[in-house]
Amino acid sequence: MFFTLNIMGFEDFLNTPIKVGEKTLKNRLVLSPMASLTTIALRKVISNFSLPGLLYTEMCLAKIVPTENKEKSTVFRWREAEEDILVCQIVGNEQEHMVKAAQRIEEEGLFGVDINMGCSISRLCKKGYGASLLREPDKAIQIVSSIRKAVNIPILVKFRTGWDDDPRFPMEFAKKLEDAGADGLIFHPRVAPDVRNRQPKWEYISLVKKSVSIPVFGNGNVFSKGHVKKMLDLTGCDGIALGRISAVRPWIFAEILDDFVPIPETFYTTASEMLEEIFTYFEPNRAVKLYKKWSFYFYSNFFYGHSLLKSILKSNSYQELKEAIKKTLIPLPKLNAIPNLNFLH
Ligand SMILES: Cc1cc2nc3c(=O)[nH]c(=O)nc-3n(C[C@H](O)[C@H](O)[C@H](O)COP(=O)(O)O)c2cc1C
Repeated sequence: MFFTLNIMGFEDFLNTPIKVGEKTLKNRLVLSPMASLTTIALRKVISNFSLPGLLYTEMCLAKIVPTENKEKSTVFRWREAEEDILVCQIVGNEQEHMVKAAQRIEEEGLFGVDINMGCSISRLCKKGYGASLLREPDKAIQIVSSIRKAVNIPILVKFRTGWDDDPRFPMEFAKKLEDAGADGLIFHPRVAPDVRNRQPKWEYISLVKKSVSIPVFGNGNVFSKGHVKKMLDLTGCDGIALGRISAVRPWIFAEILDDFVPIPETFYTTASEMLEEIFTYFEPNRAVKLYKKWSFYFYSNFFYGHSLLKSILKSNSYQELKEAIKKTLIPLPKLNAIPNLNFLH
C-alpha cells in the first residue's frame, strides 16, 4: 500500500475505490459520525459539494432502531439519494437489540451498520455502551458475530485504543473483530477517557492496519489536506474518517478529492444553506439548537470566531439566525488557516 501511494499521489489514492465487505466505496474518505452534527441537514450540505465514500448517521440507540419512525425520527432519518453510501451507527450492548437494529438497517437498504465502540460519554458508558464495550471485549466480539449471522450488509466498527494506553489491545481486538465478521474498521487512536485533549497516537493506526486484512480508516485530528497526506504516509491506512473538520468546512471532501477551493462567498452561502436545511428537517426549537451546535464548529474558521459566535448564540428563531449570519459573514471575516478548535473547550 505504501508503494502504491508513493507512485500514484495521495489524491489519486484517495479517489481509488475500495471494497468493504461485498460493497465498494467510490473513494476512501468517510464522514465520521458525530452526535447532533452529522444530521440529515449537514449531510445534505456536504453532498452539495462532493460525496465522501461513506456518510454516517449520528449514533442511534439500537433498542429504538427496530421500531423507529423514519419520517419523524431526529437521527434515524435520511434522504433516498444518500441511501447507497449511508452507514447507520448503532449504540448499545444488548445482543438482541443490536441484531434487530442491524436487520432493520439492512431492510431499509442502507449501505451498512456500524457499531459504536468509541463513545466515552458517561451517560452511555454507565450502561455498558460505546467505549465501555472495550472493557468487555468478549461481549463486544459476540455482538459482532451475532450481527454477522443475521445480516449480509457490511459491518463496520468504530473504536478507540481502549482504556489503557497500550497498542497491543487495539491490535488484538481488531483481529478478533475481523475474525468475528467485521468488514471494516474506523480506528481513533486515543484512550477512552481522553476527550480529544491530547494528540491522537497515529502510530497506533499503522499497528492496527498491520494486524488485519480488512480496510482500516484512520481517524483523529485530521483538519487539512496536509494532515490527510501525513496520516496516509505515516500509517499506511486504507482511508480516513473526517470528524469535526467536516462540520467546520462541509466542502472539505471536495477540497481533498476534487481540488475544490472555496471562494469568500462559500462561507456565507454554506451558513445560509445549513440554516435552510436544518429548518427543513427539524421543528423550530430543535433547529435553533442544532444550528447553534453546528455554529460552534463553523465559526472556528474565523480569527475572531468566538466573538462572532455571540450573535448566533443570542438568536432564537430562523429570522434572527438569518440576520446574525449576514451580520457576521458579510464582509467575510479574517480566516484561520487551520480552524481554531480550542475555543470549543
Ligand atoms: C460533537 C461530537 C460528537 C461525536 N459523536 C460521536 C458518535 O456519535 N459516534 C462516534 O463513534 N463518534 C463520535 N464522535 C467522535 C468522532 O466521530 C471522531 O472520532 C472524533 O471527533 C475524532 O475525529 P476528528 O478529530 O476528525 O474530529 C463525536 C465527536 C464530536 C466532536
